[in-house]
Amino acid sequence: MPISAPEADLLEIRGLVAGYGKIVVLHGVDLAVRQGEVVTLLGANGAGKTTVLRALSGLLPRGGGSIRFAGAALPPADPRAAVRAGIAHVIEGHRVFTQLPIADNLLLAGYDLSGATRRARVEEALAEFPELAARRHERAGALSGGQQQMLAVAQGLVRRPRLLLLDEPSAGLSPVLVDRVLTVLRRLRAAGVAVLLVEQLIEKALGVADRVYALARGRVVLEAATDAPDLPARLERAYLGEVSG
Ligand SMILES: Nc1ncnc2c1ncn2[C@@H]1O[C@H](COP(=O)(O)OP(=O)(O)O)[C@@H](O)[C@H]1O
Ligand SMILES: [Mg+2]
Repeated sequence: MPISAPEADLLEIRGLVAGYGKIVVLHGVDLAVRQGEVVTLLGANGAGKTTVLRALSGLLPRGGGSIRFAGAALPPADPRAAVRAGIAHVIEGHRVFTQLPIADNLLLAGYDLSGATRRARVEEALAEFPELAARRHERAGALSGGQQQMLAVAQGLVRRPRLLLLDEPSAGLSPVLVDRVLTVLRRLRAAGVAVLLVEQLIEKALGVADRVYALARGRVVLEAATDAPDLPARLERAYLGEVSG
C-alpha cells in the first residue's frame, strides 16, 4: 500500500490565525501545497504574506488553526521542527553574512549536516549559480544586492528541502537574475521540490507557478490554477478589494 497518494497535499494550512502581540494579522488562512507544486502567494503590501511564511516556518507563534506537513502535524513556534520536517525559509531581504566568504555562508546553512554531506550539498547549490561558484572564496559583502539574494536562495537549497519558502526573491534583482531564480524554481519542481513563492512581480510569479492564492487583509480572497482563463479579472478584483474594501 502506498504511504501517501500522489495527489496528497504536502502542506495543509487550516484556519491559521497569527499576528504580533495583540495585533491579529491572519484571520483564518487556508492554504495547501502539493508535492512538486509551485504555489504563489500574492497580495498588496501589508496583506500578511510574510506573516504566513513566518507562522509556517515556526518563527511566529500561532493564535489558532493547524498545519499538517508531509502527513504529520507541524508543531507551532518551533523553527527547528520545521527545518527537520524539510521546510526551508528564505526570508525577506538578502540576509547573508557579508564578512564571510560565499562558500562559508553555504556551509553555515547546512550546520547540522555531516561534513561530507554538507560539502556535497554546497557544491549542489553552487552548481545552480555559476556566478557564485566562480567567486566562492570572496566575501559575500563583495556581491551585488541581487547576487546576495541568489546566495540567500542557494542557502535554502543546501538543505535540499521538501518545501522551499521564498519571500520576494526578486526584490533588488536585475531582470536577468530574476529569470535565473525562476529557472531554478522550475528545476526544483521537476525534482519534486514544492515551492511557496511570495512575489511582487505578479506576471513573473504566475508564469512559474501552478496555482495562486491572493491574500487581502489576512484573508484568502482568491485561489485558482494559474491557467484559469478568468484569472486576470479575478486577480484584479482581489487587488481592488484590498484597496477599496
Ligand atoms: N514585527 C511586526 N510587529 C507588528 N506588526 C507587524 C510586524 N510585522 C508585520 N506587521 C504587520 O502585519 C501586517 C502584515 O504584514 P506582512 O505579513 O509583513 O505583510 P506582507 O508580507 O503581505 O507585505 C501589516 O499590517 C504589518 O504592519
Ligand atoms: Mg512581506
